[in-house]
Amino acid sequence: MLDREMPLSIIEAWLREDNDKELERLWEEADYVRKETVGNEVHLRGLIEISNFCARKCAYCGINANNRSVERYRMSEQEIFDCVAKAVALGYGTVVLQAGEDFGIGREWMAEVIREIKMTTDLAVTLSLGERSRMDFREWRLAGADRYLLRFETSDSDLFTLIHPSLPGKPTDRIRDLYVLKDLGYEIGSGVMVGIPGQSWSMLANDLALFRELDLDMIGLGPYIEHPATLLAKIRPQLLRKDHQQVPGSELAVYKVLALTRIMAPEANIPSTTALGTLDKKNGRELGLMRGANVIMPNITPSEYRERYEIYPDKANWSETAGGSSEWIEEKLKNMNRSLGKGVGSRVRRQPV
Ligand code: 5AD
Repeated sequence: MLDREMPLSIIEAWLREDNDKELERLWEEADYVRKETVGNEVHLRGLIEISNFCARKCAYCGINANNRSVERYRMSEQEIFDCVAKAVALGYGTVVLQAGEDFGIGREWMAEVIREIKMTTDLAVTLSLGERSRMDFREWRLAGADRYLLRFETSDSDLFTLIHPSLPGKPTDRIRDLYVLKDLGYEIGSGVMVGIPGQSWSMLANDLALFRELDLDMIGLGPYIEHPATLLAKIRPQLLRKDHQQVPGSELAVYKVLALTRIMAPEANIPSTTALGTLDKKNGRELGLMRGANVIMPNITPSEYRERYEIYPDKANWSETAGGSSEWIEEKLKNMNRSLGKGVGSRVRRQPV
C-alpha cells in the first residue's frame, strides 16, 4: 500500500524494505507521482554561499563555530550581484542565498541585496540563512524574498538537541520558525539528513509524517556525511544504535526516503541534492531525479569561497563539469525524458487550499 496517507507503521516498513522487486515498485510509484503532479520539468536553482561565518555549534556541520581551521568569508554586495548575473546568464529561474547563521549579515543590508535582485531581474529569491528573528524574516519578505529553507534535520527532539545546541537564551524551535515563515507568505522548505548517528527508522518515519503535516513547498534530503572537524566525528561510537535500528547514511537509504517523500508530499519541489551526488558521483543526481526529485541546485559560488564552505568533505558539484550552463544540463535531461523548467518554478497547487 503506497499512498499519501500511509500510516507510520507502513512508512517504517517501506524504509526497512530491502527486497529488490519491492523497491523497484517504490521507485516506479514515486516516479509516477512525480510525473503526474509536478510533471517532466526540472527547475534549476543557482546556489550562492554568501557567507561561511556561523554562530552555531552544530555537531554535524563542518563550518560550525568551533572549527577554527575554517577561513571565514562574507561576500560583498558586488560579489553577490556578480553571481546573480551569472545565474541569469546561465538561464536559471531562482537564486538561493545561503550562509551559516551569520549575525554579521544585518537585517537592512540583506533587505537591500534582496530588493536589488528583485528590481533588476526576474529571479525568484530563496533564503537559507538559519534561525533569524521574526523581524528579520518579515523585513526580507517585504523586500521581495520568495522562499525560505530551514531543515529541521530530525523530528526527534532528543537527537536534535544533542546535535544542534541552542544559542544561550534562545531555544531552538525550527518547526515554529517554519510556521512563522509560512505565515509571512514565504514558500517554505525543510528537510532532514539520513543516517545521523543515533537515528532510527522509526524516527525517519516520523520525519516523513512531519513533511506531510507541514505541507512543505520544498523538501531537501541528503545522506549525513561525517566531517572530521565536528563533535559527531568524535562521539559517533557512543551514539550509534546497537539494536539494528541505526539508519545508514547510504545511497539506498536516501532513495527510499526520497521516493516516500514524493509520494507523501506530491506537490513539493524536491532537489536531487549535492550530498547525494557526493555519494555517487556518476549516477547519484540522475537516480535522484528518477526516484522523486524535480529540482537541481547547481553551485555558482566563486571557487575560492566554495572550497571554504565545507559543511561535509568532498562536496560534489555538477556545474564544475560544464560551467553549469542550462544547455548542458538540458542535454543530460533530454536523455532522461525530462525537460528544463520554464519560469521560476514555484510550487504548483493541484487543489486550491
Ligand atoms: N552531512 C550532510 N549534510 C549536512 N548538512 C550539514 N552538515 C552536513 C553533513 N555533515 C546539511 C544540513 C543543513 C544543510 C545546509 O546541510 O541538513 O541544513
